[in-house]
Amino acid sequence: MRPFCFQHWWFGRWPLTWAVSLSYMAFVLLLSTLEEHANKFGVVGPQACAECHIDEHTVWKASSHHEGSKTLSRSVQAKTIASALGIRRIKGDSRCTTCHFTMQESGSGQLRPTTGVSCESCHGAAQGWVAVHADFGPEASNALEENAAHRQARLRNCERQGMVRLSSIYDMASNCYGCHSIDDPEIIEAGGHPSGAGFELVSWSQGEIRHNFLHSEPRENKEASADWRALAFVVGRGLEVEYALKALEKASGASLEGANRRLAAAVGDMVQIAQLVETPALKDLVTQMKGVNAQANAPTQVSSKRVSGLVRRIEEELRELDLSSIFELLPDPADYRGSRSR
Ligand code: HEC
Ligand code: HEC
Ligand code: HEC
Ligand code: HEC
Repeated sequence: MRPFCFQHWWFGRWPLTWAVSLSYMAFVLLLSTLEEHANKFGVVGPQACAECHIDEHTVWKASSHHEGSKTLSRSVQAKTIASALGIRRIKGDSRCTTCHFTMQESGSGQLRPTTGVSCESCHGAAQGWVAVHADFGPEASNALEENAAHRQARLRNCERQGMVRLSSIYDMASNCYGCHSIDDPEIIEAGGHPSGAGFELVSWSQGEIRHNFLHSEPRENKEASADWRALAFVVGRGLEVEYALKALEKASGASLEGANRRLAAAVGDMVQIAQLVETPALKDLVTQMKGVNAQANAPTQVSSKRVSGLVRRIEEELRELDLSSIFELLPDPADYRGSRSR
């Protein structure tokens, strides 16, 4: 027998473990570099958009997404919530900054909350696409002069670089839901933080948030078309089912009852929609959700992930149909959220 040597013993004994853990470490290192890259170099800030989108910028500046962030740290309610969670500096804690601010690299290389919820919170961090999305080709000075092949390549490129375009309402609106549906029970229970119940995509996007200038001459901030609103209404209610399920998957204590109520109401809305317009995915969603007892504490018979896939399909299927039968369900303009500056 050879005399015992720790090194031989260790390496000899676990070659596979070593190989696996080394490659795992390399993988984690790579991931964290990528992530750091995305964070640090992703956000260009709203000023970079204002250069060309001055009207959109003016609307945004007057909205609570911008205004609210200026006073948040001083608000009594914010201080109550923060101290219940043991948070000293609201602007320095990611448990608050992820939803209330835009984090951008400062001169010293650190990520700082530079402004409130802004363009890139909804349209995607723009470092990779901002130059590309308005380059219509060597012979074209605007989108109308652009040739079809260039357009296709440009839009694909933008999406690959992380631009959230307007071609998918689902993609855009899951951003809203990512912030507006609070699924951390601790934050809701900490001191009356809104839970997100009550968010509805049409009324919440057509009030103070609305910026819809591109296709009008002279430029005006038009209400979205009835077809767009009908599609957004259904996709929004579908997301409500998905995110109520997500909240239920994490809920405890007081947040459980609220999440159950949200789910029941959202399923009720989908049932009503399915009586007015018919698509296979919509039918499928309603059938599956009927089996879920929203009052019980066993909410995961249907997963939020499964619902997510169905809502995407519902959007695609509805794009092929006449939606006028659901116009009667659309929110009244008097209920649009927040007053518009223009
Ligand atoms: C150099 C000028 C310029 C800058 C800077 C710029 N844009 Fe644009 N943007 C345009 C033009 C031009 C269009 C296309 C207009 C058209 O289709 O007629 C456009 C279109 C868009 C669209 C609609 C795209 C679509 O696919 O439907 C969005 C959303 C958008 N820009 C967001 C932004 C954001 C966010 C920023 C800042 C990160 C930004 N833009 C910066 C010029 C610019
Ligand atoms: C990055 C997180 C985030 C995203 C994304 C986001 N919001 Fe918000 N939103 C907030 C926060 C935080 C507030 C509260 C701001 C304040 O008053 O301090 C808010 C406030 C609002 C308000 C005003 C609320 C009121 O009580 O009147 C409206 C309307 C709104 N958001 C609509 C939307 C819509 C529509 C979308 C998606 C198209 C969206 N938001 C996307 C975080 C977000
Ligand atoms: C998951 C996203 C999310 C997180 C995390 C979050 N908030 Fe919020 N917060 C929101 C949204 C969205 C609103 C606006 C809701 C509405 O108007 O219904 C809001 C509203 C508020 C309000 C009321 C603002 C007003 O102007 O009326 C306060 C205060 C607040 N948040 C404080 C905090 C604090 C402090 C933290 C950190 C502990 C925090 N929030 C974490 C999303 C979030
Ligand atoms: C709360 C999320 C949110 C924020 C913040 C936001 N957008 Fe948008 N943006 C949207 C949505 C939703 C639409 C589609 C609206 C529609 O079709 O009615 C849109 C549409 C657009 C369009 C095409 C429509 C048009 O005519 O303007 C442009 C360009 C645009 N946004 C640029 C910007 C810029 C620049 C900023 C920042 C100054 C910004 N957005 C901030 C959600 C947002």
